[in-house]
Amino acid sequence: MFRPNTLILLTTLSTALLAGCSAGPAPVSYKSEIKPIIDKYCTECHLAGGTGAEASGFITQDYDAVMKGTKFGPVVVAGDPLSSSFYRLVAGKVDPSIRMPHGKEALSEAEITKIEHWITQGAKNN
Ligand code: HEC
Repeated sequence: MFRPNTLILLTTLSTALLAGCSAGPAPVSYKSEIKPIIDKYCTECHLAGGTGAEASGFITQDYDAVMKGTKFGPVVVAGDPLSSSFYRLVAGKVDPSIRMPHGKEALSEAEITKIEHWITQGAKNN
């Protein structure tokens, strides 16, 4: 039989474990996780001279250009994926018919989630 002290100890331990689990997703790195996704899916149209870059002014060559956004303003709002057209477009949340990448295969759920977490975590150049 458990003695009361043991029960208190077990309760404390499981509370600590649960708190650990809800600490949020693992940190996402721009350099090793987000940049490769951008290079794979976006850069063919969003480098200077590409159709996407010409039409929107959104150039994806490096972090500063990504954060600058389109000629109309930023597409990444640090901390707020749902206000970031960069996330909303790849997730099909603006309008599924204008998902990015334009006319190509959508990103995987795992890739979309990485972008969401990267923005939630402050969209840093880490
Ligand atoms: C096959 C070409 C192509 C690819 C690949 C592509 N885009 Fe685009 N993108 C476009 C075109 C064309 C436009 C301008 C017309 C429009 O907004 O639909 C555009 C516009 C945009 C805009 C501005 C939209 C707005 O409302 O101002 C964003 C943000 C964007 N693209 C993000 C991305 C991201 C992120 C990727 C990669 C996941 C990507 N694009 C891949 C062609 C492309």
